[in-house]
Amino acid sequence: CNRGCRMAGGVYTWEDVQSHCTKTDQWVVINRKVYNVTQWAKRHPGGFRVLYHYAGEDATEPFSAFHPDQKFVQKYMKALQIGELAATEPSQDRNKNAAVMKDFQDLYVKAESQGMFRTRPLFFILHLGHIILLEVLALLMVRYFGTNWIVTLLCAVMLATAQSQAGWLQHDFGHLSVFKKSYWNHVVHKFVIGHIKGASANWWNHRHFQHHAKPNVVLKDPDINMLNLFVLGDSQPVEYGIKKIKNMPYNHQHKYFFLVGPPLLIPIFFHLQIIQTMISRRYWVDLVWFMSFYIRYFYCYVPLYGVIGATALLFFVRFMESHWFVWVTQMNHIPMEIDYEKHQDWLTMQLQSTCNVEQSFFNDWFSGHLNFQIEHHLFPRMPRHNYYLVAPHVEALCKKHGIPYQTKTLWQAFSDIVTSLKSSGDLWLDAYLNK
Ligand SMILES: *[C@@H]1O[C@H](CO)[C@@H](O)[C@H](O)[C@H]1NC(C)=O
Ligand SMILES: [Zn+2]
Repeated sequence: CNRGCRMAGGVYTWEDVQSHCTKTDQWVVINRKVYNVTQWAKRHPGGFRVLYHYAGEDATEPFSAFHPDQKFVQKYMKALQIGELAATEPSQDRNKNAAVMKDFQDLYVKAESQGMFRTRPLFFILHLGHIILLEVLALLMVRYFGTNWIVTLLCAVMLATAQSQAGWLQHDFGHLSVFKKSYWNHVVHKFVIGHIKGASANWWNHRHFQHHAKPNVVLKDPDINMLNLFVLGDSQPVEYGIKKIKNMPYNHQHKYFFLVGPPLLIPIFFHLQIIQTMISRRYWVDLVWFMSFYIRYFYCYVPLYGVIGATALLFFVRFMESHWFVWVTQMNHIPMEIDYEKHQDWLTMQLQSTCNVEQSFFNDWFSGHLNFQIEHHLFPRMPRHNYYLVAPHVEALCKKHGIPYQTKTLWQAFSDIVTSLKSSGDLWLDAYLNK
């Protein structure tokens, strides 16, 4: 027997596990087995930060939520196992609710046995097809009808629609929710996010899995890191107010949001972050895909608009896409609870930070089925055309345990973004002036 085998025999308490929660010493527990992931974190395909967010904690639920090919993954995990929980320790740690976890696990098994994780290929073929069709028609239209402003505007609207829809489609492949094999999901993901959208798959994975692993958890969810341009939730504004931090006049944030949020997120912030990440992390494969987008785009549009015109058109497309993206992606989380780590179980944590928007054909298409954000967060590997099947079961489960399950209209969801920014801003002002 080698060294690994001998070490695999350790018996630990939750207290032992919890003390291994630093970047240079990280343990996690999955199905009562204790793993030392300190070295592995750097090679983890989902990114190193996502593991660190669970360091010293039970990670059974996120593990099964994110990994399709669990037998395959377990081969790697054997080498990392250092022991197991002592028989006297409960299966759940800290603030996790054992009854909720048990019921959620049962729902998982039920969803799986009822085929809710099975993909309908036609759904994704049609989605990809309508994106490519919009791209092709937009180009042919300008070629045929010329570059007058009405045609150009229509072309921009079609391209922005294609880009937004490709954004939702890359999300499906990124979550490994389409093909059975991770490999094919990764390949098509690179194509959709890289070639069709001009972004980086690894950049997206790294950000997005952290968001899913710990949504609305301060210092863990990158989607609520607003670079001090905004303050969110109830605790951050008060904390900033007490510390007299005033990077922006936060009591006006619900107004300047319209100027710096939706218009600038994709054209400025994401562009810069993607390029910076690809270069600093040496994502050369992603860089090639990224360049293939720009080569195709400029090859098609420079002959029609010139270099400056084509660049301006692209920025205008991004500008429109960005509005679409920001309103849809913020509506499910920003108005919900935003707080520091509480180490709750999967269902409780996801429901506190996520709400749904009503189902309709338009809402499904417009939001890429992220109107079922609750189901998406609970079952990130489920093909999105099946969310509506599991939703009633989730709602019933929440009701049983007294966990609020919110569904709103699209307009209500949009306006709640502004309302919640205003109330966070007011909390900040009050603390800034009075505490
Ligand atoms: C955990 O892994 C790190 C890095 O490989 C190693 O230095 C440390 O000794 C390991 N801890 C245990 C208890 O195996
Ligand atoms: Zn997602």
